[in-house]
Amino acid sequence: MHKHYSEELIEDIRISNDILAVVGEYVRLERKGKNYFGLCPFHNEKTPSFCVDPGKQLYYCFGCGKGGSVIQFIMEAENFDYIEAVKFLAERARIPLPEGDSEEEKTIARKKQDLLKINIEAARFFYEQLMDLKNSQAREYLNRRKISPNIARKFGIGYSPEEWDILYRYLRKKGYDDDILLESGLVIKGKNNGSFFDRFRGRIIFPIFDVRGNLIGFGGRIINDGSPKYMNSPETLVYNKRKNLYALNFAKNSKEKRIIIVEGYMDVISLHQYGIINTVASLGTALTESQGKLLKKYAEEIIISYDADSAGQAATMRGLDLLNDIGCNVKVLIIPNGKDPDEFIKKNGPEAFKKLLEESLSLVEYKIRILKKDIDTNTTDGKISFLNKAVELLSKVDNNMEREMYIKKISKEYEISEESIYAEVLKRVKPAKGFRTVSNIEANKLKNVRKKGNSEFEKVIECERILLSVLSIDNSVYRVVKDRLNPEDFEDEKDKEIAKEVFSRLENNRGIVPAELINLVGDGLSDIFARLIQGECNFDDNNKAVMDIIRRMEMYRLDKREKEILELLSTSQNHSQEDVEKLKLELKSILLKKKSK
Ligand code: GTP
Ligand code: MN
Repeated sequence: MHKHYSEELIEDIRISNDILAVVGEYVRLERKGKNYFGLCPFHNEKTPSFCVDPGKQLYYCFGCGKGGSVIQFIMEAENFDYIEAVKFLAERARIPLPEGDSEEEKTIARKKQDLLKINIEAARFFYEQLMDLKNSQAREYLNRRKISPNIARKFGIGYSPEEWDILYRYLRKKGYDDDILLESGLVIKGKNNGSFFDRFRGRIIFPIFDVRGNLIGFGGRIINDGSPKYMNSPETLVYNKRKNLYALNFAKNSKEKRIIIVEGYMDVISLHQYGIINTVASLGTALTESQGKLLKKYAEEIIISYDADSAGQAATMRGLDLLNDIGCNVKVLIIPNGKDPDEFIKKNGPEAFKKLLEESLSLVEYKIRILKKDIDTNTTDGKISFLNKAVELLSKVDNNMEREMYIKKISKEYEISEESIYAEVLKRVKPAKGFRTVSNIEANKLKNVRKKGNSEFEKVIECERILLSVLSIDNSVYRVVKDRLNPEDFEDEKDKEIAKEVFSRLENNRGIVPAELINLVGDGLSDIFARLIQGECNFDDNNKAVMDIIRRMEMYRLDKREKEILELLSTSQNHSQEDVEKLKLELKSILLKKKSK
């Protein structure tokens, strides 16, 4: 099926990547019985219906129906095709792959390694400069901003001297050529004379790390006043400002369930210095969807704490909606008196900040607060307009308890009966048409086979897939199957192919486990098989279940043939008498067989 790599190699790669560990890098999982549950990374949800079964090495989401082995998970999560996912997992498990990658890929990989090395050399250089006696003004600046030497070291803060090309010359001496130095973004080529000079000059330097701790770029703040206040690395092969978050490499280890997102480097460093290490910043851009998804991996709740000015407020709104849309629980921490987190915590201390944290507003509370600020509710018109907009907001809250709580609050504040607000909200609530709740799916999952509305054909196909699944869970069942069924008996063409492979493996004592079956069935069917393995296949007696299925498959074949014969007989003018007799005989034997079942 996948000619590129041998089956054995793929299987080796699969079992070397424990599904719990791999999924755990994307989803926060909690143990429930023998399985683990978390929020599905493939659809928006706020209660966990995504399940990982470490025993069978499978995942399955009861909400959206996605499922498979660790390979399908990586395909979905990283948007890879099959081969890319296998490569990714091979690298993760340090399993060498036989074919060398293309020349182009190799060159890029080598370049990336060089860029990361250059960044480390540069960061060391900047740090040494900060420590250098002659650069006391840089140390004084950090002092004034109350950044301790310890935290400066933790964040690798440095200084780029007020010189034209000191870093360029330093890196040249280390053996890097102009081309790669240009690509690193640390060096710029002059437009007029083509000479090279440093991007960062006379700035405090903040190294930027990715989640894994690679040094990917730099931010630089001018000392004292001047413009631009901040300068950042340009996009390079290793630095993408839209996909990374400042200090996430530290914040992800905080063991807190929530992460605070702030605007600036200085805010992050300050909060970390006061022990609030579950804090990150976006990198001088509005929060992006990639950053949101990254945050979702590491936090159950995200707290936005941007500046209170109008730009900050607009950014807060955008961030709230973006995070909410991708299924994050999100809140807003408001800092009084227009201060930023850095200024606030330095003035009031960490306890005061933690108190603000506890008082964070939910999305709806925050939006209502902004409405109130923007509308003059002392006039009747203003009051009506406010209530209309508030009701509109409330109608989007899908949690009934939460909604009721807000209605109570507003009712009290404006002396309007809860009932009339409720009635207005209900008018606007969209009926949840076609929406399947998790509990429904749970309840139905074992009845699916008998669900009415499915044609007999669909039911039989589901049955034959259950049979294949049971075989992968319990290889010993093959003893019951081998004399009673052969791959040609499967109705679905794809199932026929799969059955051939499964039967031949079992015939030759090679064995098969569920995750292998999932890989075997390939794209399109892996969701279905994962669902069956996780749900329908929990039989008390596998042998008996399989016997039932075999009988059912046979019955279906008999019914089908019976219909065919009746059809043929009813259009009998073209048949010889002999043929008709044969058909009638076959029909008789079919009816006999059916009776004996
Ligand atoms: P301080 O003024 O030193 O306290 O810095 P801050 O971290 O509070 O910065 P501020 O709130 O002014 O800005 C937030 C973030 O936006 C910074 O950390 C930078 O990432 C980015 N930023 C601010 N000013 C500039 C600028 O002039 N150019 C660029 N490219 N980014 C900036
Ligand atoms: Mn600031």
